[in-house]
Amino acid sequence: MQTLLVANAKGGSGKTTLATQAAGWFACRRQRVALQDEDPQRSASGWLARRPALFPKIEALKPGTGRKEAREQGLSWRVIDSPAGLHGEWMRDLIKQADVLLVPLSPSAFDMEATQAFLDTIAEYKAVREQKLAVALVAVRVDARTRSAQELDEFLYGFEFPLIAHLRETQVYVHCARDGLTLFDLPPSRGKQDWEQWLPIAKWLKQN
Ligand SMILES: Nc1ncnc2c1ncn2[C@@H]1O[C@H](COP(=O)(O)OP(=O)(O)OP(=O)(O)O)[C@@H](O)[C@H]1O
Ligand SMILES: [Mg+2]
Repeated sequence: MQTLLVANAKGGSGKTTLATQAAGWFACRRQRVALQDEDPQRSASGWLARRPALFPKIEALKPGTGRKEAREQGLSWRVIDSPAGLHGEWMRDLIKQADVLLVPLSPSAFDMEATQAFLDTIAEYKAVREQKLAVALVAVRVDARTRSAQELDEFLYGFEFPLIAHLRETQVYVHCARDGLTLFDLPPSRGKQDWEQWLPIAKWLKQN
């Protein structure tokens, strides 16, 4: 079992969207996957409760479930969604659980500043320094035509962690959040453009 943690101390940076979509990706590949919602706001749990039963199954793990207990369930993947403002011991504990960490961020000065501080902390972790924890960045809500999208790329270029994907700003994510769905549950006419943007994430998860 591999554990994917989605985290960024910045609120509203796209964590729950990325975590639910990643869980949906594994589910549509017929891999046994569970979502573990560590955010007291319970957005991921609410999304899972809205998920229609006929779509590929995503299981739920209680907050605080440890690696050993999760492994005993026979899962291939555990996806952990984390809260805004994550820091200190709680952050350390969650990072300890993870094999891979995805950090979403938007092209805004506020997100970039907050994410920089978060990544500086992450870079100090022993697991990261010893390359036991793979970390990657995902730019979300990107409109490639804008100056801010370009500024985000320039900003991220200097980091030690790779920027592996750009996800465009689209109501498709908002509708998926509302309906308990993921891009991978949609017909090609609605999902195809965004599936393509997910391919590098799927590839990176497979490699790490
Ligand atoms: N690519 C996108 N295009 C359009 N809207 C998006 C996109 N990604 C996320 N959103 C929307 O942005 C909002 C914030 O995203 P999300 O809830 O995933 O962030 P979060 O980091 O989990 O927030 P919190 O810190 O409150 O837990 C949501 O309404 C979500 O539907
Ligand atoms: Mg969230």
